[in-house]
Amino acid sequence: MSTQTHSTGLAAAAVAPRETSTPIPTTAARREADIPDVTDLGLADAGKRRILWADEHMPVLRRIRERFERERPFAGLRLSACLHVTAETANLMRALQAGGADVRLAASNPLSTQDDVAAALVVHFGVPTFARAGEDTETLYGHLVRALEHEPELVVDDGADMVAAILAVGQERWDLVHPVLAAWGRSLTATAREALAGRILGAMEETTTGIVRLKAMERDGVLPFPVVAVNDAKMKQLFDNRYGTGQSALDAIIAATDLMVAGKTLVVGGYGWCGRGLASRARGLGAKVIVTEIDPVKALEATMDGFDVRPMSDAARIGDVFCTVTGNRDIVTPEHFDLMKDGAYVCNAGHFDVEVDVAGLAKMATGVHRGISQHVDQYTLESGRRIYVLAEGRLVNLVAGSGHPAGVMDMSFAGQALGAEHVAQNRDALATRIIRLPDEIDQWVARLKLETMGVAIDDLTPEQERYQASWSLGTS
Ligand SMILES: NC(=O)c1ccc[n+]([C@@H]2O[C@H](COP(=O)([O-])OP(=O)(O)OC[C@H]3O[C@@H](n4cnc5c(N)ncnc54)[C@H](O)[C@@H]3O)[C@@H](O)[C@H]2O)c1
Repeated sequence: MSTQTHSTGLAAAAVAPRETSTPIPTTAARREADIPDVTDLGLADAGKRRILWADEHMPVLRRIRERFERERPFAGLRLSACLHVTAETANLMRALQAGGADVRLAASNPLSTQDDVAAALVVHFGVPTFARAGEDTETLYGHLVRALEHEPELVVDDGADMVAAILAVGQERWDLVHPVLAAWGRSLTATAREALAGRILGAMEETTTGIVRLKAMERDGVLPFPVVAVNDAKMKQLFDNRYGTGQSALDAIIAATDLMVAGKTLVVGGYGWCGRGLASRARGLGAKVIVTEIDPVKALEATMDGFDVRPMSDAARIGDVFCTVTGNRDIVTPEHFDLMKDGAYVCNAGHFDVEVDVAGLAKMATGVHRGISQHVDQYTLESGRRIYVLAEGRLVNLVAGSGHPAGVMDMSFAGQALGAEHVAQNRDALATRIIRLPDEIDQWVARLKLETMGVAIDDLTPEQERYQASWSLGTS
């Protein structure tokens, strides 16, 4: 039995080895994949400044990058990432590249790309990038194809779109993929389609919705290769999902609407990691917060945290602002729009644009004024009431704002970088399943983050360690 190792040098749980992959020859398609596609290379200098500014606030990732430069854990490996193309992501790509990976980056969302960052990645950092803010879905999937043509051995995914594409193409499930992906998949030989998943050592998944999809693959027995659930690490959920989404979603709502939060009623759909952060930050700004939930434990937690918990059909009549963060679909539907006040703002910070039924709203509206303000569309209902949809119902914090602060992405992307190293180091030992990021990595990232923040903590004494490990000491 082989034992996994990772960068902290500690042994992790042993698992059964997986079959090694068969590389296929480099094709002309790979050369085409080298030509990047971004909006305007002239924005590169502005993007570089933004990336370096973010780097200043990502000391943990920087430390990892410096070690990777020396140790080159990814030497000879190709890596494709499908992520929001932001300054923080750029610094993750720099760290992976410093570790020797031959990297490619494609957008994971049509609206979240920072065009200046995409340009800087190409011009200043040598990262072939395929991302244009505002790209249509054909282009988005075309960009995903470019990343797959890179024939990656490591994958960094956000929402499991790349893993799902690899799986569906491998299984020739053309009904499951966008026509652009289907056309590309059909153009490959059967050997090349199989090799797509076969050569992958492992993937890293960034977000809750991606984990939900991957768990469904695992349940159906079709997960194609090991996947590290970076999202499920403590250093991700507790900070990125909670404080990152809480702050950046509110930032974006305020930026798009110029909203005076104090005194407003904000309805938060879902009280998971993101919902908790959003609700507490909104309360901090003086909002009255209503939470909607379907899980009785989370609903009880929200109630005991002091929030007003109600069904959406009830909250719809009262809310001034609605923000969904459930990872589920149909949270705000026409039945709810019908009940809302004139001037209600509706947005979503969950991964996919299925939480707010914008198409349903468009159908019931008598008039639509797109772009009444930047990232705000006005829908007028038969009654004359107006509903304002932010960021087309897509991730509001990344579309109408600049996403999470670099200081929090420092921890999430430290997890991504170390997760990738964990896969590279244990390539012959990982089982084809969803893998937790080793606890030691979480602990290491937390310690380093505290250090960079100038926060010291106590160490266990030997007596305390013995006491905690013993069952023999009871009531004295
Ligand atoms: N905007 C961002 O930058 C960002 C960052 C991290 C995660 N996400 C995404 O946000 C979503 C939520 O992530 P999370 O980590 O908070 O997940 P989570 O699983 O911790 O929380 C989701 C909550 O929604 C609740 N829920 C499900 N269906 C519901 C319904 N019909 N009505 C009300 N509540 C419902 C669940 O009970 C759960 O408590 C995911 O799609 C995730 O990928 C976005």
